[in-house]
Amino acid sequence: MRDALNLLRTRRSVKPIELTGPGPSAAETETLLTVASRVPDHGKLVPWRFIVFEGEARLAAGEAIAAAFRAKYPDAKPEQVEFEKRRLARAPLVIAVVSRAAPHVKIPEWEQVLSAGAAAMSLVFGAHALGFAANWITEWYAYDRSVLDALGLSAHEKVAGFVHIGRPAQPVEDRPRPPLSDIVTRYGQ
Ligand SMILES: Cc1cc2nc3c(=O)[nH]c(=O)nc-3n(C[C@H](O)[C@H](O)[C@H](O)COP(=O)(O)O)c2cc1C
Repeated sequence: MRDALNLLRTRRSVKPIELTGPGPSAAETETLLTVASRVPDHGKLVPWRFIVFEGEARLAAGEAIAAAFRAKYPDAKPEQVEFEKRRLARAPLVIAVVSRAAPHVKIPEWEQVLSAGAAAMSLVFGAHALGFAANWITEWYAYDRSVLDALGLSAHEKVAGFVHIGRPAQPVEDRPRPPLSDIVTRYGQ
């Protein structure tokens, strides 16, 4: 396993289309889900859950995405519809992080949403720690009600992200990061 700090320093996203197989094994997927489910969670509400897409199920879910796309764009070309059908089949493993944040007597909903973000980030770092690359994306279908219905999300649930996981098909290059001087102030100075 790579040194943790080095991992944090070097992580970067790899586009879904550049993520190839073999994907994580069943045991590795279990590890990813385990690390993702031990994030900070104010009130221990477990305000998130996960949906795993692998193998043929990725295309079955893609049928719902393609159907929603066709409904939005009746004149879409067959190749565009085919692309939509394969949205979740670009990487060998996709894990949706579903936010279950809801009004609560004590815990602000915002904090529950943040916890779902932490779960998604743990998935991303977990994937890197196991030697895979990942990309946390939402894309249009994360906001389409008919797709969410097909994926089994109830009315109050939201997709925090579809975390795509696989092996980088080519060397990974970083992008510029914000200089700390732009984003850090020292209180009192
Ligand atoms: C909640 C969330 C949703 C995102 N959705 C998308 C997306 O739909 N498409 C996309 O290209 N990047 C999306 N991103 C950004 C990528 O995860 C990633 O940060 C970006 O490609 C830059 O790469 P980096 O992680 O190496 O900085 C999203 C990020 C977050 C936090």
